Amino acid sequence: MVAARPHVSANFALTLDLRATTASHAPSGFGSRTDKRRLRGLRSECDALLVGLGTAVTDRMGMGISDPALCARRIAEGRPAQPIRAIVSRSGNIPSDLSALARPDCGPLIIFTTPTMPAEVRRMLEGRAEVVIADAIDPAEVLRHLGECHAARRVLCEGGPTLLRSLLEANLVDELHLTVCPLVFGGRMAPGLTGIPAGFLPEEIRLDIVEAVPSSAEESAPGEFYLRALVRKV
Ligand SMILES: NC(=O)c1ccc[n+]([C@@H]2O[C@H](COP(=O)([O-])OP(=O)(O)OC[C@H]3O[C@@H](n4cnc5c(N)ncnc54)[C@H](OP(=O)(O)O)[C@@H]3O)[C@@H](O)[C@H]2O)c1
Repeated sequence: MVAARPHVSANFALTLDLRATTASHAPSGFGSRTDKRRLRGLRSECDALLVGLGTAVTDRMGMGISDPALCARRIAEGRPAQPIRAIVSRSGNIPSDLSALARPDCGPLIIFTTPTMPAEVRRMLEGRAEVVIADAIDPAEVLRHLGECHAARRVLCEGGPTLLRSLLEANLVDELHLTVCPLVFGGRMAPGLTGIPAGFLPEEIRLDIVEAVPSSAEESAPGEFYLRALVRKV
């Protein structure tokens, strides 16, 4: 029997004009402390965390769970304290000072790449990360590897927009968690949820919003709005 692919959620913070990055493409930390807390909760529920190299670098992500209480809860549930950490990069140009590499205390690190990964980078990653090389990166194969080789049943994509677009194009997303922040960035070329405005997706994706929660006045970010939407299965 063919194993089902892992369930895929994605979490993003967006401005009121639905931009996903700041003008400087600096770390996407425009969400509030509440947004970060919600993200930590989602991360603690996943078996594998998946990001594109752009986000791993720009947002300087260690990609681990730093809250000991959340790690303890995972262990009590019979799961590893930390999720697997997966990064995709067609180029394979992984910088040696990548934040995720500096956190061997977090979960196993897997790099999905192509034969263009420079030999010196492969050497630098020896003993520090599993490197999975394929002629082209097929998001479905990435999920299959995480499911079959690492028993991941729930994958959380934390961006960026380029990676999310490739997952959406292949109809591989089940659930979106969006924080809508009370900011407007503007920018004709500013990336949104699916990157810099480009072509339409091959097919529209219909979702059902199953949660729409405003931040409460006592929280750190009055004015934020938290949405959870499930992709409709046809
Ligand atoms: N608002 C939010 O919630 C949020 C969330 C995450 C990120 N961001 C922001 O988004 C910006 C980064 O955007 P981005 O679109 O460049 O991020 P990204 O998707 O994380 O990174 C893009 C890079 O990742 C690799 N990649 C992504 N998808 C791939 C695929 N399907 N196959 C092969 N390689 C793939 C490629 O690396 P190579 O070039 O090495 O091949 C690509 O250049 C940052 O400013 C970050 O702060 C915002």
